[in-house]
Amino acid sequence: MKAIRYCEYGSADVLKLKEVEKPVPNDDQVLIKVRASSLNAFDAYVTRDSWVGRLFFGLRKPKDTRLGQDVAGQVEAVGKNVTQFKSGDEVFGVTRGGLAEYTCSREWALAAKPPNVTFEQAASLPLAGLVALQGLREGKIQPRQKVLINGATGGVGTFAVQIAKSLGAEVAAVCSTRNVDLVRSIGADHVIDYTKEDFTKRDQRYDVIFDNVCNHSFAERSRVLNPKGICVLAGMGGAGVKTSEAIGRIAGNVFTARGSFDDQKFAQYRIKTSKQDLISLGDLVKSGKVRPVIDRTYKLSEAPEAMRYLGEGHARGKIVVTVP
Ligand SMILES: NC(=O)c1ccc[n+]([C@@H]2O[C@H](COP(=O)([O-])OP(=O)(O)OC[C@H]3O[C@@H](n4cnc5c(N)ncnc54)[C@H](OP(=O)(O)O)[C@@H]3O)[C@@H](O)[C@H]2O)c1
Repeated sequence: MKAIRYCEYGSADVLKLKEVEKPVPNDDQVLIKVRASSLNAFDAYVTRDSWVGRLFFGLRKPKDTRLGQDVAGQVEAVGKNVTQFKSGDEVFGVTRGGLAEYTCSREWALAAKPPNVTFEQAASLPLAGLVALQGLREGKIQPRQKVLINGATGGVGTFAVQIAKSLGAEVAAVCSTRNVDLVRSIGADHVIDYTKEDFTKRDQRYDVIFDNVCNHSFAERSRVLNPKGICVLAGMGGAGVKTSEAIGRIAGNVFTARGSFDDQKFAQYRIKTSKQDLISLGDLVKSGKVRPVIDRTYKLSEAPEAMRYLGEGHARGKIVVTVP
């Protein structure tokens, strides 16, 4: 089968379309004929050449050369312990190596694709949708609460704005000038253009801050959080953030998450693959409460271009890769 592999670290040029062995599902896995996958900031972090990356993903060269954690496609075969899916079913979920004609995934990492949701839309959901859904859950949002989403226009942010709205929140979105109309179109009640105004310097207070960028200090965010507010430390600013900046922000988050001020909470979390949450995401799209924002669609052979665009750090929603 054809698959994207990266055998060395570096720019998007290290992504190569190769002829490789078709994977064989083990007893607990589902073999999926991939129809679409999508890129995440994580794919940019694992491929770039940095000492931190080498520490985690292979010192001399990448240990796992597969790419793509999101998948939507058709079940081709199932292992003998798989009970919930059969050949021909349309599914979406989390995998390893979604940028390929076939991939294997565990059944608990997959959900049935709702019939009125396209493969491209379904492939945009898993990782970014889970980061948004599980992060907003950390924020314990109640209807009519004031919620601010910092970094509202990337893969995670566009889901976070819509999921917060579906929970009944009044949403303020932080984005750059060119994305003001986009965040309004997905339901943001208020828009703060970060190129003109710093949300931590305004008088408005929030019950929940979903911080997808973490480019402000503890004190700055504390100032605009209500006394019992929750700041969810979700991300570091996406695929465009430099490694040195990312390390600074992660260190800041680890320190911040230990701090407290009155009853304010700074919550750190790591996403978990959850079938139930994938089903919830599918339902949100099926019901029209969430509309995946797909910025660009590339073919599998164009994965290097897709990665180059993601790495610029200004994706407007998701970047999808389709497999013919
Ligand atoms: N917590 C977890 O378990 C977990 C798991 C996976 C990923 N993540 C995190 O999720 C984060 C976001 O990923 P993503 O897929 O949304 O990234 P992305 O698609 O690359 O989007 C990044 C967005 O950040 C915005 N941005 C950049 N600088 C900004 C600033 N100063 N203020 C406000 N917005 C700014 C950009 O908007 P403009 O174009 O308008 O600048 C862009 O839309 C990543 O940092 C990743 O670490 C967390």
